[in-house]
Amino acid sequence: MKMSNNTVLITGGTSGIGYALAELFLKRGNTVLITGRTEENLAIARQSLPGVLTYRSDVGDPAAIRQLYADVAAAFPNINVLINNAGIGLKRNLNDTTVPLEDLNREIATNLTGPIQMIQQFLPLLKRQQTAAIVNVSSGLAFVPLAVKPIYCATKSAMHSYTQTLRVQLKNSSVKVIELAPPAVKTNFNKGQEELNSSSAMDVNKFAHESMRGLEKGRQEILPGLSRMARLLGRLAPQAVFMKAEAEQMVAEGERLSWSTR
Ligand SMILES: NC(=O)c1ccc[n+]([C@@H]2O[C@H](COP(=O)([O-])OP(=O)(O)OC[C@H]3O[C@@H](n4cnc5c(N)ncnc54)[C@H](OP(=O)(O)O)[C@@H]3O)[C@@H](O)[C@H]2O)c1
Repeated sequence: MKMSNNTVLITGGTSGIGYALAELFLKRGNTVLITGRTEENLAIARQSLPGVLTYRSDVGDPAAIRQLYADVAAAFPNINVLINNAGIGLKRNLNDTTVPLEDLNREIATNLTGPIQMIQQFLPLLKRQQTAAIVNVSSGLAFVPLAVKPIYCATKSAMHSYTQTLRVQLKNSSVKVIELAPPAVKTNFNKGQEELNSSSAMDVNKFAHESMRGLEKGRQEILPGLSRMARLLGRLAPQAVFMKAEAEQMVAEGERLSWSTR
């Protein structure tokens, strides 16, 4: 992928991986547009990343995607790189039947249907560019699930599968399809779930630099750090699941709490 003179749209660019990628793309002479749900965080990004353009947009809301497309296409008809990065991952006890059904959709809307709808919406415009790319940020957990984050891992696995088929269907177009699967990276992602912050988590800037190298080399799957191991493990031991004991403990704790409140 060419690394300068692109117009790059990054969803969820106000923190973590999206922010670090935005910074590197700006440094390399690209026009960079980022999204996020929180105006305050977008304002902070505008201050700390001179030149970045910001759009308040929730990727889980189809109406917001349509509005984002209208705004971006009007101002930047030459947009040629879409990075579907925004994501959330929640710890969940699937035995807890008090969770409202609507709440179960939150991660699916942000991590899976949102990116699919973004692609559907932006694809005609991307196809009109001489060179274009869609980068889908999945996860090492797409290959081996984490027992405490069941819906999150299902969305990332599905995103991996969707990306593979998208690549086949866009083979004869100008749009390259790339999957970027982070390992554990030190960001706000696990905020409030500190027990999930492993000491082996990668520094976010190191991760972003490795990702840029992968993009520059034209890799269609970029698997930094332990993500490569996770994919191998998923192939060698398809029944593998990370953090089984923690999930069992979470379920037992949930049962104890629900008994104590009866
Ligand atoms: N960090 C890790 O260990 C890790 C590992 C594997 C994969 N990943 C993946 O990497 C991606 C980025 O994660 P990160 O670690 O950088 O997380 P992060 O630091 O929490 O950043 C997430 C970004 O997404 C935005 N966002 C969240 N929900 C959104 C929505 N519905 N619409 C638009 N923007 C939204 C957030 O801003 P607002 O909250 O203001 O909207 C923020 O800018 C995610 O897809 C995640 O699944 C992360």
